[in-house]
Amino acid sequence: MDQKNKIKEFVEKTKGFSAEEIIAFAYKSFGKGVNFASSLGEEDQVITDIIAKVAPQIEIFTLDTGRLFSETYELLAKTQKRYPMTFKVYYPDTKAVEEMVQKYGINLFYESVENRKMCCGIRKVEPLRRALANVDAWMTGLRREQSITRSNLETFEWDTINKKIKINPLIDWSLEDVRQYIKEHNVDVNPLHAKRFISISCSCCTRAIKPGEDIRAGRWWWENPESKECGLHNNPKWKGDRSKKT
Ligand code: ADX
Ligand code: SF4
Repeated sequence: MDQKNKIKEFVEKTKGFSAEEIIAFAYKSFGKGVNFASSLGEEDQVITDIIAKVAPQIEIFTLDTGRLFSETYELLAKTQKRYPMTFKVYYPDTKAVEEMVQKYGINLFYESVENRKMCCGIRKVEPLRRALANVDAWMTGLRREQSITRSNLETFEWDTINKKIKINPLIDWSLEDVRQYIKEHNVDVNPLHAKRFISISCSCCTRAIKPGEDIRAGRWWWENPESKECGLHNNPKWKGDRSKKT
């Protein structure tokens, strides 16, 4: 069966499944051939907690760009301690970072979208490629509600860049659903969320949002909303339909 049909079948089979059931299904289908990418965000902390309960054999990894908030590093340490599972940390290629900074400056990302994507490419996208080298599928904390560019995603997708199956167990959860789970299960989260940092990435590229602002408004706030993907999540189905608001 080709990947497109396999994905269609998975989407059909798991219709109405809870996140727990999707994660258990993912492990049953792929075994050690599926891992989970955690940025330590609220969604990711929920998924880590569920993995610990239903499929603790699934490996978790985080991409340390070298520019994360100190609060994120503290949460990483706390999470690794709380859940006795395999939790790997991947780093960018040193030479590539050194050459980029030498040529374009330490804060090149503020200069242009092109520079910003170059930095994300070196600090996130290339390490992700290595993290996914030995798996057939990876899990993410993506939700449709997060952004216009994510509004048409399904639980199972084909990742055209990495040529892997991407699994999004929380795709139709709202932020309220995420926060309800966190409260009920006493999940550890980044203290920055309480200071109106909703979507958190590198410290230099994330700011708190103002009341009424979009939940990703604090990410690369100087850019147009439609350029706000770093290359980890290219959505080929997104054709730039401006009528779709979240
Ligand atoms: S991004 O593409 O804009 O950076 P976002 O921060 O919304 O992504 O996170 C969406 C999902 O991508 C997360 O739930 C997680 O699965 C994955 N992800 C993002 N950043 C990282 C990271 N640094 N390490 C591991 N996974 C990540
Ligand atoms: Fe670089 Fe900013 Fe992307 Fe982090 S979010 S990798 S600092 S451009």
